[in-house]
Amino acid sequence: MSVAAIVPAAGSGDRLGGGIPKAFRLLAGTTLLRRSADAVATSVDLVVVAVPADRRDVDWRNAAVAALEGAACPTRVVAGGASRQASVAAALAVLPPDVDVVLVHDAARPLMPPAVVAAVIAAVRAGAPGVIPALAVTDTLKSVDASGRVLRTVDRTGLVAVQTPQGFRRDVLERAHRADPGVATDDAALVEALGIPVLTVPGDPAGFKITTPYDVVLAEALLGGGR
Ligand code: CTP
Ligand code: MG
Repeated sequence: MSVAAIVPAAGSGDRLGGGIPKAFRLLAGTTLLRRSADAVATSVDLVVVAVPADRRDVDWRNAAVAALEGAACPTRVVAGGASRQASVAAALAVLPPDVDVVLVHDAARPLMPPAVVAAVIAAVRAGAPGVIPALAVTDTLKSVDASGRVLRTVDRTGLVAVQTPQGFRRDVLERAHRADPGVATDDAALVEALGIPVLTVPGDPAGFKITTPYDVVLAEALLGGGR
């Protein structure tokens, strides 16, 4: 049984800003892409990265190859798409035939501990078609209208916030991507839409997604300013 990780890294990072794609931003001297790839590379046989394809100024494919040099497993770089879902699909299309378990791990989650990655893989190996790391929601949740006026308080019992890596049987993930022409913010949503069960394993707060400048400050603090 062979395991591959897809790392969607083709986003522009509009909420972070800074003028370059988020995956190529440095965190304490190392790109988010490399850190996120390293988080999965020791647990898988291949990492396939999807990079921005639509810019003429910089060759992000070469930049990714350079960033991934010396990684713990073989890597491949493909051109991503206009949505996260399209980027994952582009990477899925180049997986070698022997791969039967696929992880999808955001390039924007550089600090996800390897123990969570291992737990996701183990649960798929144990027979779950889809597995995602989840954390209990701690804030009180409200539903609001367009003007910000509260409509109601949402009962957070049974609500979780989910992370990556999300792990799937390859055939399940391929079916899910073939079936859904829309745009989902995670892969599990596509699998759920087919009525296929998705299990959760405990996530880790360190696996938070770098979305805004605040997240970079937080991640660099967690790295102790060096590493
Ligand atoms: N992603 C991708 N292809 C896209 C859009 C997003 O591969 N067309 C990837 C991002 O590179 C990131 C992950 O999906 O690793 C999660 O997306 P998000 O955090 O939203 O990143 P961006 O889309 O880059 O950020 P923003 O939404 O702020 O522009
Ligand atoms: Mg985005």
